[in-house]
Amino acid sequence: MRTPIIAGNWKMNKNPQETQAFLEAIKGQLPDPAQVESVIAAPAIDLNALVWFSKDSALKVAAENCYFEDEGAYTGETSPKALAEMGVDYVVIGHSERRQYFHETDEDINKKAKAIFRNKMLPIICCGETLETREAGHEVDWVVGQIKAALAGLSAEEVSKLVIAYEPIWAIGTGKTASSDQAQEMCHEIREAVKSLYNEQTAENVRIQYGGSVKPANVQELMAKPDIDGGLVGGASMIPESFLALVNYQ
Ligand code: G3P
Repeated sequence: MRTPIIAGNWKMNKNPQETQAFLEAIKGQLPDPAQVESVIAAPAIDLNALVWFSKDSALKVAAENCYFEDEGAYTGETSPKALAEMGVDYVVIGHSERRQYFHETDEDINKKAKAIFRNKMLPIICCGETLETREAGHEVDWVVGQIKAALAGLSAEEVSKLVIAYEPIWAIGTGKTASSDQAQEMCHEIREAVKSLYNEQTAENVRIQYGGSVKPANVQELMAKPDIDGGLVGGASMIPESFLALVNYQ
């Protein structure tokens, strides 16, 4: 059985003081991690506070990006090695905002996935189609193509442990959630793709999140779908009460 995983993605929001205040507000209220894993993906400057908090809580910590080299002359980049040494658990890669504004390619995402495993962390690999691609009826090919490219060269054992986040771009920050059936259909297609690339067991193990206007009001319906194992949540993860309602959806 796959453990559900609800992750907040704060994007470029919150400073270290605001992070501290958020953590004070959620203290002692996260679910048992054997029932639901609670994760926050935060800007690099906030990770220290999150890692300290996570030492005696159920929270897992994610960076929102990293570089694919461990160290060197790459001004402005964040080292996966340093993130791991700091105590970070996950790194989000391939978010549509990074693909769109920072020109992150499928090849970069694949190199980042390998760098994350090399440093004993786990990637949360995002994928998702634009509205035009969906309207043209090519959304499955598009998303499966992104997943194949991201996973190239990873072992079945690695793929069993990572997380895939399906985020249709037209549903991000728009208030327009994909219907739970649309989200389920794509998460099922992703699992089928993992099955054909690897094997049935790997497909059964990999956790797939849905992201795009997830909120306390729709989390239960989404989580009831057989191929949806979690949510990657932007706006609704930034207020402590709403983050707590999401992770405690059961
Ligand atoms: O990564 C989370 C995301 O892009 C969805 O954002 O604000 O629609 O929940 P939001």
